[in-house]
Amino acid sequence: MPLTRLVYYSRPVALGDADIDDILTRSYANNYLKNVTGALFFNGEWFVQVLEGGRQTLSDLFVRISADPRHRAVCLLDVSAITERVFADWDMRYIGGQPAQEAVIKRFMPQGFDPVTVTDGATMTRILKALADAGAERPEAPPPATPRA
Ligand SMILES: Cc1cc2nc3c(=O)[nH]c(=O)nc-3n(C[C@H](O)[C@H](O)[C@H](O)COP(=O)(O)O)c2cc1C
Repeated sequence: MPLTRLVYYSRPVALGDADIDDILTRSYANNYLKNVTGALFFNGEWFVQVLEGGRQTLSDLFVRISADPRHRAVCLLDVSAITERVFADWDMRYIGGQPAQEAVIKRFMPQGFDPVTVTDGATMTRILKALADAGAERPEAPPPATPRA
């Protein structure tokens, strides 16, 4: 299956830490099994997610994610063929609002974080990668025993 990148943003409903933990726990387990990698940005106002994996896998996953009642106004920004993964080391790299990331957000978006102003998926992926590099990593749950396909 062609290696594909899918990028979307959405508006979270009122969520607590337990909701984010649940989303991440499911993502770590499911994405590992499906050879999906990526990053999830959340700042209380926006979700932005980059997903990397097989085309059909991502299409199925996006249909499932977009029906999730924990967010609304899901906007698909990009589906593109890619040659390599940017987030190859993460089942789902979580990017929460850490102070160290504020400077990065200012650099890309001087008016404040607003995914609507980002024109394409490659740019959004670069922004999420810069944010991931600036912030501390949230420890992932140990992967299940099944090896990657
Ligand atoms: C913003 C957001 C991002 C999500 N990202 C993923 C993801 O990367 N992988 C995943 O399997 N589920 C993700 N989910 C959760 C799915 O919508 C769904 O709840 C989950 O896949 C069901 O998992 P289960 O079949 O193990 O219960 C996300 C949900 C939200 C709201």
